[in-house]
Amino acid sequence: MPIATTVAEALQEKIKSRTARVGVVGLGYVGLPLAVEFARAGFHVTGIDVQETKVTTLNRGESYVQDVPTSVFKSHVESGKFTATTDFSVVKDLDTINIAVPTPLRKTKDPDMSYIVAACQEIAKYTRPGQLIILESTTYPGTTDELLLPMFERPDLVVGQDFFLCFSPERVDPGNPKFQTINIPKVVGGITPACTEIGSLFYAQALEKVVPVSSTRVAEMVKLLENTFRMINIGLVNELALMCDQMDVNVWEIIDAAATKPFGFMPFYPGPGLGGHCIPIDPFYLSWKTKQAGIEARFIELAGYINGHMPHFVVDKIQNALNDQSKALRGSHIHVLGVAYKRDIDDVRESPALDVMHLLKKRGARVTFSDPYIRTLRVDDGEMHGADEKVECRQADCVVIITDHVRFDYENLVHEARLIVDTRNALKNIKSEKIVRL
Ligand SMILES: NC(=O)c1ccc[n+]([C@@H]2O[C@H](COP(=O)([O-])OP(=O)(O)OC[C@H]3O[C@@H](n4cnc5c(N)ncnc54)[C@H](O)[C@@H]3O)[C@@H](O)[C@H]2O)c1
Repeated sequence: MPIATTVAEALQEKIKSRTARVGVVGLGYVGLPLAVEFARAGFHVTGIDVQETKVTTLNRGESYVQDVPTSVFKSHVESGKFTATTDFSVVKDLDTINIAVPTPLRKTKDPDMSYIVAACQEIAKYTRPGQLIILESTTYPGTTDELLLPMFERPDLVVGQDFFLCFSPERVDPGNPKFQTINIPKVVGGITPACTEIGSLFYAQALEKVVPVSSTRVAEMVKLLENTFRMINIGLVNELALMCDQMDVNVWEIIDAAATKPFGFMPFYPGPGLGGHCIPIDPFYLSWKTKQAGIEARFIELAGYINGHMPHFVVDKIQNALNDQSKALRGSHIHVLGVAYKRDIDDVRESPALDVMHLLKKRGARVTFSDPYIRTLRVDDGEMHGADEKVECRQADCVVIITDHVRFDYENLVHEARLIVDTRNALKNIKSEKIVRL
């Protein structure tokens, strides 16, 4: 084996021999699956999180992330391949550090960089030559070179020479059984070509495909393009749904028929509004940044407006459907079936169910919910507990399907319920006068 002569070569050798000590900062939906992939590839992984309860749970061998089964996770803890801590001083012993902390929006729709800044300030206290640092949190183009680089560079730490800095967007799709961290191609861009090379080498040890790009800004923009593309196309079909409602044509049938075109068309579907940590949020990171350059991101603003209107449209549908039965929404019992932001996951972040429930309550309805993945929910500063699905569907004046979990018993629902508003086309194959479709 050739003797390493530079800091870069020494780090490359540690990565190739899998003796590099891997660190992941932020052990949530993104960080924990990533940490597990590197433990599976044979690395010693240290997870760092500010939440003591998460760290204690993980060190007991228990996973709280749906895509990381405890049965698999436990073996990595027992073999000593994974440990978790709240103590950032371990950074000095690590060779690689991936950062996957939250990047929400402030109320003003401006990026909230406080989690990234807090994590990097702690990391920077313990950095030394020979480390690879990769930001994975979704963010605006320019974050890695404008914000992170000045936090890490020192006279003895020159980027591309003494340490290596990259951005690599996380593209995980929670609950997707086909594509998980290991088989989703990993885009990576470094501050210098040496950074990109080492970052790519690192991911190639644990993940199936790596896609190097020329800079951190390109890598940051890739993620924003992907999520903006989805947000705008969903906005388009939501607007189509509003038009079809006026013209009394079935929007779902139109999309399914259009999707038979073997080229040039990709189906997107309408729904009760956007949810999750990515699609409703990330495009505003882009529009915030471009506004500074004097460019207005008009597609993003328009799609945001239309998508934000959908919960109101759903509540109007419920009100009109009750009206057709000579009932008022005020005082009616509405049961919300499914509150997660999408099918078969346990995440309610930004879920449109929260907006629909808020609006229903505001108009005087009595609201209940059931979801096999979610027991309690905060709506309008009050905690709500999930109810018995069968009982509530039978008793409610109207059931509204917000999330189309596979586990729901739809046949029984149609049999028992008095009125159903289906926002997801979950009852596509069932014909019944009780069903009102979006
Ligand atoms: N969830 C997704 O589907 C998804 C997909 C792609 C990208 N992303 C992006 O990945 C990033 C992380 O998202 P997530 O869903 O994993 O969030 P999450 O809330 O599930 O996890 C983030 C973790 O970071 C921890 N944390 C917060 N501040 C910290 C700090 N200063 N130091 C150390 N740990 C800290 C939190 O305690 C939490 O455990 C975000 O930028 C998000 O936009 C998320």
